[in-house]
Amino acid sequence: MWFRMKYLQGCHALVTGASSGLGEEFARQIAPHAASLILVARREDRLISLASKLQESHPRVEIHTLPLDLSLSDSSDRLLDFLTARNHRLSLLVNNAGLGDHGDFASGDWLRIQAMLDLNIVALTRLTHSLLQSGRFRGPAAILNVSSVASLLPLPGLAVYAATKAYVTSLSEALAMELRPHGITVSALCPGPVPTEFQATATRPGGDTGFFDAPSFLTESPATVVREGLLGLSRARPRVVPGLAMGFAAALAVSIPLILLRAILQTRVSKIP
Ligand SMILES: NC(=O)c1ccc[n+]([C@@H]2O[C@H](COP(=O)([O-])OP(=O)(O)OC[C@H]3O[C@@H](n4cnc5c(N)ncnc54)[C@H](OP(=O)(O)O)[C@@H]3O)[C@@H](O)[C@H]2O)c1
Repeated sequence: MWFRMKYLQGCHALVTGASSGLGEEFARQIAPHAASLILVARREDRLISLASKLQESHPRVEIHTLPLDLSLSDSSDRLLDFLTARNHRLSLLVNNAGLGDHGDFASGDWLRIQAMLDLNIVALTRLTHSLLQSGRFRGPAAILNVSSVASLLPLPGLAVYAATKAYVTSLSEALAMELRPHGITVSALCPGPVPTEFQATATRPGGDTGFFDAPSFLTESPATVVREGLLGLSRARPRVVPGLAMGFAAALAVSIPLILLRAILQTRVSKIP
């Protein structure tokens, strides 16, 4: 299957949020095919440990770690400085770093909400924009934005998170059209539940991660989600919902009349902690 993954062979890739979960898996699946790979996240020890494992199995790939807090406003400048200092160009950008927050909106911690907006929306947009303007990212190239199936619906209890991901999916769809003539493919990857650190991170202090427990037929492993995301990107699909069951559930959810959907979602509100 890999020979059909047209953006992978010899790519110069950057993966954000590579210190755990889907980002780590992206790094694992991209490394065997890449010419170079840059791993970005805050936890440098995790990045270094992943990079050294990948380097051992793929000695010909040039692997860099770049510890960055993407929610800081100078992060895209720091990334560009890093690329410029090495005269490095990119051909595959995986905007994966993201953050959730489960609970009702009114009692949420503003700093947490701000962090979600900064990372899920501002950092992703700014990084993409500055790379495109820098000339260090030119077609043929590809951008995979990790959104969520939560982007397709308003979700009480995950209101801000779902809204940030609706932004990511919408932006990706529009950029897919704008950038196609420039030889740049853009896809939004919209996974359902995937067991990673996401659930624990999105649970408020004293809260219960049980909210995120989903039926096993709707849950996909990081390996499957990443494989389907990269495959969807190589097929230039603007939106990829990994997993047959989740694909069907998502298609059903978006086809329900809004008036009915609101009534169904309203029943969830009493269960929000
Ligand atoms: N897991 C799911 O059920 C699920 C479902 C749908 C969509 N998603 C999306 O998938 C993406 C990856 O999430 P995941 O499930 O792999 O969760 P995860 O294991 O918690 O990974 C999140 C990654 O984002 C990085 N990150 C967080 N804040 C950051 C910051 N300020 N600057 C730089 N990096 C930062 C984390 O690294 P550091 O902490 O080291 O910085 C980590 O590598 C997210 O966009 C998430 O919304 C997840």
